[in-house]
Amino acid sequence: MDAFLGIDLGTSSVKLLLMSEEGKVIQTVSKDYPVYYPKPGWAEQNPEDWWQAAKEGIKEIVEKSGAAGERISSIGLSGQMHGLVLLGEEDQILMPALLWCDQRTYAECDYLTKQLGEKLSEYTGNKALTGFTAPKVLWVRKNCPDVYEKIRHVLLPKDYIRFQLTGEYATDVSDASGTLFFDVANRRWSPEMLQVLGLRENVLPKCYESDQVTGKINSRAASETRLRLGTPVVGGGGDQACGAVGAGVVSAGVASVALGTSGVVFACQENYAVDVQNRLHSFCHANGKWHVMGVMLSAASCLKWWVEEVCQLGEDGFKTLLEEAKMVSPGSEGLLFLPYLMGERTPYSDPYAKGTFIGLSMSHKRGHMTRAILEGVAFGLRDSLEITREQNISIQAIRVSGGGANSILWRQILADILNLRVDVVNSVEGPAFGAAILAAVGAGVFTNVENACEATIKTLDSIEPILEHVKKYNDMYPVYRGLYKTLKDTFEVLHVTI
Ligand code: XUL
Repeated sequence: MDAFLGIDLGTSSVKLLLMSEEGKVIQTVSKDYPVYYPKPGWAEQNPEDWWQAAKEGIKEIVEKSGAAGERISSIGLSGQMHGLVLLGEEDQILMPALLWCDQRTYAECDYLTKQLGEKLSEYTGNKALTGFTAPKVLWVRKNCPDVYEKIRHVLLPKDYIRFQLTGEYATDVSDASGTLFFDVANRRWSPEMLQVLGLRENVLPKCYESDQVTGKINSRAASETRLRLGTPVVGGGGDQACGAVGAGVVSAGVASVALGTSGVVFACQENYAVDVQNRLHSFCHANGKWHVMGVMLSAASCLKWWVEEVCQLGEDGFKTLLEEAKMVSPGSEGLLFLPYLMGERTPYSDPYAKGTFIGLSMSHKRGHMTRAILEGVAFGLRDSLEITREQNISIQAIRVSGGGANSILWRQILADILNLRVDVVNSVEGPAFGAAILAAVGAGVFTNVENACEATIKTLDSIEPILEHVKKYNDMYPVYRGLYKTLKDTFEVLHVTI
């Protein structure tokens, strides 16, 4: 029996998953690492922490899975997107990785937008957003010129793991799409953008399709991880593209919704298409097609913040608080929560936006506040869904993944607020599962990603919207929607006081 290893380098942990040819999950392992927030709005990680965690994780999964571990036929990598990893002459890490949720590049985005105007979308299919990689490069050029001078390799987070495993500097089209120096329409680096950033193409990784083999496990990695020397590693993809593959979202009609640290609405497109206002990202998908997506910067992380930081509860706290929230009726008795704890990307592109409870009264208890958080995140996802509706992208159902998808209550709230059927598939491990599927396609077990998904993904549960709740939430949505407009200036003033 062949087994395929998917490695998803997330923001809070690396998740590893071993899949059989039939799509059965043989084993999973997860290893945590810290995120550093050195200043408000900044978010950094140490790539060495990623590699240590991935190495430990690989060793553990190989050990735990016994014979299956020895038969790992190929490996797929998935990971948090947009992060900037800089290596010098000796492949040394030049500075901490700046993450997808880091908001420090407001001025650089402004510069790119003004400098390039409509050309930016023409070159890349996207607009300048603080999380993307290109403005991070400009920030380093301006603020750390000594580091900028030493840059020999620019990598995305998961591709640092690839480099450690294979010695190759390589990436895939879906992850490259989030750099803002990739020509998404033509699936290649954008020469125009490289010129604007002052980067030579030879500092960039070689770009592959997601199921193509990019390199093989080298002798150092084999001895450090117990993986078989020469095991192929395929391109893999950004966590959202891999999550969509893991949920079987590989053709039009069904969307993937991720309730992870970030919150995402993702719809597959058969052809490249871009909204004139670039409200949704237009990226390459991991199956040779394209996709659009809207991204909220804080989704399940809002609940984590509430449970752990505010209520100061441990792992059991999630269960307790979700039970309390279940007892509260839809609408949380007039309480709304804006989930902008790290600013917001879609639809506002505003690093200064802040989290807010609005409508509090003496009758509200903790359960109301927890429920308002679940509802606020679902309303935020609806903001992205509404844009897909305006663009006539037909979505009949969503497939939900990510940590938040484990909550039945949250799934029902999603169904009610989006007014769509919510399907749960056999793997809520989304990205790691998708990466394993891409590995299996790369190994030739399936002819293409669509066939692989058909063979491995099953719907386990479907939740239909409850009409009465849909009506209630439809009434509340315009109120939610109006709040950002009302508070925008206040957020900016508050930001100055930090
Ligand atoms: C996607 C995005 C996030 C990160 C972290 O554009 O920014 O989903 O990849 O998960």
